[in-house]
This record gives sequence, structure tokens and C-alpha cells, in this order.
Amino acid sequence: MSKASNIACDVKDLGLADTGKLRLEWADQFMPVLTTIRKQFEKKQPLKGIRVSACLHVTTETGNLMITLKAGGADVVICASNPLSTQDDVAACLVRDHGIPVYAVKGEDNDSYYSHLNSAIEHRPNLTMDDGADLVTLAHTKRTDMAKDIFAGTEETTTGVIRLRSMSRQGILKYPIVAVNDANTKHFFDNRYGTGQSTLDGILRATNVLIAGLAVVVCGYGWCGKGLALRSRGLGANVIVTEVDPTRALEAAMEGYRVMSLAEAAPIGNLFITVTGNKNVLRKEHFEKMQDGTLLANSGHFNAEIDIPALEKLATGKRTTRSFVEEYTLRDGRKLNLLGEGRLINLVSAEGHPASVMDMSFANQALAAEYLVENASKLENKVYPVPEAIDQDIAAKKLDAMGIHIDKLTAEQEKYMVSWSEGT
Ligand code: ADE
Repeated sequence: MSKASNIACDVKDLGLADTGKLRLEWADQFMPVLTTIRKQFEKKQPLKGIRVSACLHVTTETGNLMITLKAGGADVVICASNPLSTQDDVAACLVRDHGIPVYAVKGEDNDSYYSHLNSAIEHRPNLTMDDGADLVTLAHTKRTDMAKDIFAGTEETTTGVIRLRSMSRQGILKYPIVAVNDANTKHFFDNRYGTGQSTLDGILRATNVLIAGLAVVVCGYGWCGKGLALRSRGLGANVIVTEVDPTRALEAAMEGYRVMSLAEAAPIGNLFITVTGNKNVLRKEHFEKMQDGTLLANSGHFNAEIDIPALEKLATGKRTTRSFVEEYTLRDGRKLNLLGEGRLINLVSAEGHPASVMDMSFANQALAAEYLVENASKLENKVYPVPEAIDQDIAAKKLDAMGIHIDKLTAEQEKYMVSWSEGT
């Protein structure tokens, strides 16, 4: 039955909803923690009457989060957090079957992207849920008129947390934010195993290259870089890591990766993947030294990590050779292949992180929203971690769903752990 007739939305085609429904159900089987929370939310209604505007990648996993928030009583709308990451069938199903307004179309241009953000903020949210902090930024800049009712927000990703901490340091943040990214049950798993697998999935779907024997240059050795280096090595790549942080570089070296500067890696690498969260990591001086046929991909939040304008300037020609592959021909005839327009390749040409890892990330989102409804009035306008009890509870629930049992400290051990008197 269609509930779509009176739901405001901008989606590609409501006719895609049947496929979206099946894919949402498929993902849901791998999200046992979120499912448990949804059942609790249905009974407790912790978000009753709370208007939530979300700006997240519109995927099957996010769809299941939106359904969970709605089950908890929230009045939810969602827009895309990236112009290329939307799964149009999921968007259609959320509108048609769940009555959730969605503003997201895969391939939307910049103007539509911002008009969708505006539509989401015009919901007059009480709570914002961001992946990259674009919605919070809008509420603090062009749409301060919509900020009045916002009591708190959550942030999904490293890049967003960095932006929000900068706002907090400058004293301009108007409401408290919970940094979901920083929960252990988020970044240890989503950033590491999720990015590690889904980035390679995106690169493989776009190119079908053999990773074995390739010199894969992982730019950045944060949690995403660690996962990516690990999985690339698993597929037989010759992994090179580049870093700016000495401790991380050392860690990569001791993990057995080759560590060098990007200037040194540029002529050696076959596939470069940026996961730094910074800008212009791969730039003119590197493109000039790269081998013919080099592949360039980004899995960081923004499409700023590869200096595409510099690549455009160096090129004498450009053609699309496959979906999500642009071949740039340079003046000396070398060809460099840019994947997914330099946007996060895991969501552009694949489906993002698998559901079982997003289960924990989005369990954090749902429980952080509940926590904020209860506690935001006691918080300052700063960035806060997910409370440890929530983080631990999610880990315990995930273990339980996986059928894994762990030990408990004995009374004697508990006492020992808080004492100092017993020594050699
Ligand atoms: N970020 C990375 N993978 C994702 C997914 N599957 N859904 C939502 N956001 C994501």
C-alpha cells in the first residue's frame, strides 16, 4: 500500500520501492543490535514527538536506522550527505512504505545537494544527525532561523567531528553534539573493517583490476587507513603507506608496510587511495611523476583529497571509460584514471560498509539520540563522547548476537584490580 501521496520528498523514482524494500530487509538481518533497539524503542517511545533531521548516506543500513528512529516516536526526515552515495531504491521505499520524507537522488548536482539540505533543515529539527557536519554548518550559517528548536546533534564521521571540534574551540557551537565516530564500537569496526572492505569493493566494482601484485599506496594510516592496508595486503597487494604523523608512520612500518613520502611513492604506485580527511593530498607534483595507467581513488569523506582541478589543468583530454572511471590524458601521453569523481569510492561504486558493521555505528546513533533527549539540557555546547556504558552495551549486544560468550572477573580479581597493596 502506498503511503507516499502526501509525503514531501525528492527521490529518483518511487517505482523503485519494491527493490528497496527487499534490500532493506536483507540488510536488516545483519543488524541484530539495531533490531533489538528498534523493539525497545517501539515499547518505550523515547523519541516521541522529537523532530529529527538527518543528513546521512541514504543506504539500506541508514534506512534501517531511520525506521528505528521512527519506531521510537521520532518525526524524521533525511537528506543525502553526499551527491553520489544515495541508493535510489532505498530512498523510494522509505517514502512509500515508511512515510519518511527523503531528499536524495544519486548523481544530484551541487545545487540539488544544497536544496536537499535546506529541505531537511526546514523540518525545524530538535535534533540533527550528521555525517560530515553539513547540516550543523547550515544551521550555524545560512539557516540560523532553523536553529532555534535544535537541542542537540550527533555526528557520524571523523571529518565531521574535526569540523565540530573546531566550531567548539571557536566557541560558536550552538548546541551539544555527541561524536558517534569516537565510540569504540564505531571507529574500531566501521572505520577499520568497514572501510577496509568496502573501499576495495568499490574499486573492484569500478575497475575489475587484480589487486594481487599491485603497488597500492594507502595515504593516511588512521583507522580507515589501517583497515585498507590490512585488506589490500590480504588480497596480495604490495602495500605502501604514506603519513604525516610520525607515530602512525612508525606503527605502519612495524606492521611491515613500506612507509615513504608521497613524492617517493608517486612513481612507484599503481593504485593510490586517500583516507586522510585532509585536502590536496594527491596533487600536481605527484600526478607529474605517476606511471601511465595509475588508478586514483578516495575513501575520505570529502572529494577534496585528490586535487582534481590540478589534474584537469594537467590534462589535454578526458573520457569516461567505464562507470565511475574517468581517464585523464596528460601532455606527455600518460593516462591517469580517476575513480568515482574522487568521492568516497565505497559508496559511489559499491554499497558502502556492510550492514553488520553499520549495525554498531547506527546502534550508537540511535542510543545517542535517546541519551540526548534525556540529557542535552545538562550539557554545554561542546562535542561529547558516546557514554561508555552505551558503547559497552553495544559491544555486549553484538557479541551476544554473534553467539560469543566471554568471561567475567571473579570477586577476587575485581578486588585485585582496584587494590595496590599486593606486589612482588
Ligand atoms: N558509510 C559507510 N558505509 C555506509 C553505509 N553502508 N551506510 C551509511 N553510511 C555509510
